[in-house]
Amino acid sequence: MPVVRNKKIDVLFPASAIAVRHLELAREIAARDYKDLLVVSILKGSFIFAADLVRAMHDVGLAPEVEFMMLSTYGKGTDPGEVQLLRDVESDVNGRDVLIVDDILESGKTLTYARDLMLSRGANSVAFAVLLDKRIKRQAETPFDADFIGFECPDHFVVGYGMDVAHAFRELPFVGIVAGDA
Ligand code: IMP
Ligand code: MG
Repeated sequence: MPVVRNKKIDVLFPASAIAVRHLELAREIAARDYKDLLVVSILKGSFIFAADLVRAMHDVGLAPEVEFMMLSTYGKGTDPGEVQLLRDVESDVNGRDVLIVDDILESGKTLTYARDLMLSRGANSVAFAVLLDKRIKRQAETPFDADFIGFECPDHFVVGYGMDVAHAFRELPFVGIVAGDA
């Protein structure tokens, strides 16, 4: 079991399994025949997933534009609060097909906010690609699904591959659970 910062990390999705999924997801995205595709990576958690996914998209022949939006939903705790727009996209999304990329879908609050913002600006379509879907955390008032899902995620707080606890553990090449002191 890997040890990082004197914590044992239980590996949930190894780097090798994640690498295989990028190409499969890229092929699923390519099959949709989007026009004038704009990828919007939701910072900070999706930075590694988005980096790998857009390169897989290139490998299957897609040529999207790539943009970033920084949203904060959790503030300092782990209960979903209000979504805050910390950094907006620079592109005009009017008439574009937008693919929003995030690390993990839980309640759906973050992605609902991002979708509604893109639609209010005239996006032609909005789809979601998420590395992990923690379906058990979905709330009744936001019942929606991502269009492209890497893996179903068990009901644990996960770290690695961009995801953090107080900005730590993002560098891990795998997704894992902090299992306790080493
Ligand atoms: P939602 O708005 O409840 O769907 O929450 C999704 C956001 O919460 C994601 O963009 C993540 O940044 C964060 N998040 C949710 N669960 C976890 C987790 O297990 N580890 C790290 N970040 C998480
Ligand atoms: Mg996030």
